Order: sequence, then C-alpha cells, then structure tokens
Amino acid sequence: MGTTKWVEGTVVDQTRWTDKLFSLRVEADLGAFEAGQHATLALPVNGELVTRPYSFVNAPKERPCEFHYVVVPEGPFSARLARLEAMDVVFLAPAPSGLFVLSSIPDAEILWLLATGTGIGPFLSMLKTDAPWRRFGQIVLVHSVRHADELAYRDAVAALARRYPSQLRVVTLTSREEVAGSLPGRIAETIEDRRLEKAARLELSPKTSQVMICGSPKAIGDITEALRPRGMRRHRRREPGHISVENYW
Ligand SMILES: Cc1cc2nc3c(=O)[nH]c(=O)nc-3n(C[C@H](O)[C@H](O)[C@H](O)COP(=O)(O)OP(=O)(O)OC[C@H]3O[C@@H](n4cnc5c(N)ncnc54)[C@H](O)[C@@H]3O)c2cc1C
Ligand SMILES: NC(=O)c1ccc[n+]([C@@H]2O[C@H](COP(=O)([O-])OP(=O)(O)OC[C@H]3O[C@@H](n4cnc5c(N)ncnc54)[C@H](OP(=O)(O)O)[C@@H]3O)[C@@H](O)[C@H]2O)c1
Repeated sequence: MGTTKWVEGTVVDQTRWTDKLFSLRVEADLGAFEAGQHATLALPVNGELVTRPYSFVNAPKERPCEFHYVVVPEGPFSARLARLEAMDVVFLAPAPSGLFVLSSIPDAEILWLLATGTGIGPFLSMLKTDAPWRRFGQIVLVHSVRHADELAYRDAVAALARRYPSQLRVVTLTSREEVAGSLPGRIAETIEDRRLEKAARLELSPKTSQVMICGSPKAIGDITEALRPRGMRRHRRREPGHISVENYW
C-alpha cells in the first residue's frame, strides 16, 4: 500500500449524533483551503487504499479539521471511518480542492444555503468566516433531514443565529417525522408551495437571491426544477445564473 503522497492525520475524536451520523475531528498538516472545499480521506479497506472526498465543517483558520458524515448501507468507506478512535491514523491528500465556494457566487441581497443530510457541513464552514456576512444582507440556512435527531450542529447553528440575529434565518425540515418547529416534507415541495419563503419571511427570486445546494443529487435536481419556474437557473462562470451545487454522489 503506497502512502507517500498522503499526509498522515491523527484522529482527535468522533462525535456520534445518532447510530449512523458522526463527525470526525482530525489533526493533519494540510494545505490552505477555502470554506466549502473538501479534503480527500484515505483508509485501507481489505488491503487496498480507498479514498473519498469529505467537506470541511471547520473554518479555514480553525483546527482540527472536522468532517460530518453518515454511514451508508454497504458503504465501504463510511463504515470504516466510523470505526476510527482517538489517536488512530487516517490519510489525507495534502491539497484540499473543490469549486463549491462563496468566491464563485455572484453578489445578491439574499443567500439561500440548502442542505440535505450531511450537506450542511460546507455551509457551516462558510458561515464561520466573515465573507458571507459582509456580502449578503440576509442568509437563509435550510437543513433537511429524515428525523429530528439528525439535525446535527443545532447548537452551532443557534450560536450563529444569536450572533447574527438580523441577518440569519434558519429553517429545518424533517421528512419522516412531524416535529414542532420543523417543516414537514422535502425542500423542493416547500419551494413549490411557497412554505419555505413563508418560513424564512423572504422572497426567493432571481432578482433577490443566490442559492447554494449541497447533498443528494436527486434532491439537487428536484430543487433546481422547482426553482426553474421562478426564472432561476444554474450559475456558471461563462453564463451567470442563480444556483450553485455540490453533489455528494
Ligand atoms: C465533493 C464531495 C464532498 C463530499 N462530502 C461529504 C461529507 O462531507 N459527508 C459525507 O457524509 N459524505 C460526503 N461525500 C460523500 C462521500 O465521499 C462518500 O461517498 C460517502 O461517505 C459514502 O462512502 P462509502 O464508501 O461508504 O459509500 P459509497 O460507495 O461512496 O456510496 C454509496 C451510496 O451511498 C449514498 N451516499 C453517499 N454519500 C452520502 C451522504 N453523504 N448522504 C447520504 N447518502 C450518501 C449514495 O446513494 C451512494 O451511491 C462527499 C462527496 C463528494 C463528491
Ligand atoms: N437517516 C436514517 O435514519 C438512516 C438510517 C439508516 C440508514 N440510512 C441510510 O443513510 C443514507 C443517508 O441517509 P440520510 O437520511 O442521511 O440522507 P438522504 O437519504 O439524502 O436524506 C436526507 C434528506 O433529504 C431528503 N431528500 C431525499 N431525496 C430528495 C429529493 N429528491 N428532493 C428533496 N429532498 C430529498 C430526504 O427526504 P426523504 O425522507 O423524503 O427521502 C431527507 O429529508 C441512506 O442511504 C440511508 O439509507 C439512513
């Protein structure tokens, strides 16, 4: 197993949010990154070095590095990751990468950050930096999960809401359980029937908004479709638009 191109990281600890949902903290000497980017982690699985990308949850200036992940059924890497304990070794690619960053997003009055499941990670990293608060008048953080106990980082989000009371709106959705304070259903439906805007008390339109979406590719596709009738389209460098995405698979 060749490990020469890898940085050796040391596990600090694991937070266990549910039996499937974790956050791993790792001390590793990595290159600089921009909030929204990801590291590539590597572990030996059945004698082979297997690699997977994970978004940073920590801000670029913060250490240790933190990654929020779910153990997926039959997933070779996530199951192995969940077995790591303090002081164990995990390999990381020396240079973080990725294009899902605020510096690629045009200015707007409102920034909508839409996450399914573990897709909340890169948004937390961004919100721990100054840039979004300087650039956008309002920020709406939307976290959609199956069950309420998967609303990880609730305390960190509440702390951000206290710090930026007039700028940050937080909306949570639980799709498989009705809970007070969370919208039922999926993000795309709440855009179509305007429940999301009602909950955020803000208008979602191409005139006012930039939208970043992170997580399930099917959800990203459905949300993009739900935004199309509003006149919103994917943002690309050569063809500016309103929607920027990070597909986790
Ligand atoms: C740019 C990028 C950043 C990523 N960042 C993260 C991250 O921060 N946290 C994280 O948990 N994963 C993240 N992923 C996914 C991650 O790399 C792995 O695919 C995932 O941890 C599962 O690995 P696995 O080997 O166990 O299963 P895989 O064989 O990689 O995946 C098996 C199946 O599991 C499902 N799946 C994969 N990832 C997820 C997920 N996050 N949530 C729900 N279902 C999923 C999909 O149906 C996929 O086909 C990211 C992927 C990309 C491309
Ligand atoms: N979360 C658990 O309790 C649990 C338990 C065991 C195993 N797992 C496995 O872990 C993996 C990840 O589960 P996860 O819950 O973290 O991630 P997920 O399946 O991506 O679901 C996260 C959220 O995204 C929503 N979503 C899914 N497809 C969507 C779409 N097309 N449009 C809009 N929203 C959509 C889900 O709603 P819906 O609920 O409507 O799909 C859910 O609210 C899955 O493979 C799952 O089988 C999860």
